[in-house]
Amino acid sequence: MPRILSRIDQAIHQFDNVLRTLVPGAAVASRPTPAGKEIEDGEMSAEERHHAAGLMRINHTGEVCAQALYQGQGLTAKLPEVRGQMEEAAQEEIDHLAWCEERLGELGSRSSVLNPLFYTASFGMGALAGAVGDRVSLGFVAATEEQVGKHLDKHLESLPAGDRRSRAVLAQMAIDEAHHAQQALEAGGARFPGPVKAGMTLMSKVMTKSVYRI
Ligand SMILES: [Fe+2]
Ligand SMILES: [Fe+2]
Repeated sequence: MPRILSRIDQAIHQFDNVLRTLVPGAAVASRPTPAGKEIEDGEMSAEERHHAAGLMRINHTGEVCAQALYQGQGLTAKLPEVRGQMEEAAQEEIDHLAWCEERLGELGSRSSVLNPLFYTASFGMGALAGAVGDRVSLGFVAATEEQVGKHLDKHLESLPAGDRRSRAVLAQMAIDEAHHAQQALEAGGARFPGPVKAGMTLMSKVMTKSVYRI
């Protein structure tokens, strides 16, 4: 009986995580947003705000994927020594999720309707990588974080000059993601070969192209 109960418990916990990630407004940050009251936007045209919202929507979906990846991995990976570290990283991703969502609201926009789709795909990949083994699973985290870092750099350049509040959020996220990537490699993550990374880049292109608009 206790075994069944713990299974049920785990399933409820999992479902709770899904809701927290996908229901707008449900993610609660543990750190205040880097876009504090002291940071004021400069002038932005309607077109620029629209572009900024598209970029922030991509970043928000990236964080949904990160949550799903960590949650999927948590289900199957052993990670005896680094589980705590991974949970800490996942908490930081919740901060990112909440900050991006808040910023999207400020820009008069909303998160992507495609999020459930990308959540499911990323959860599956996380769980699969975790089942293969910890080295692969940590390598997957490192490769994903590196990819997110590249996106963030591009977005920091592409944001309208007046969008200081989005810029503050992305700059802190870039620092956190670099740290996550480094942690995963130090914990024994495998460096992924070029073709695997190319596959991941292709997938991220599909995501960014679609989510920028919807
Ligand atoms: Fe993140
Ligand atoms: Fe991260």
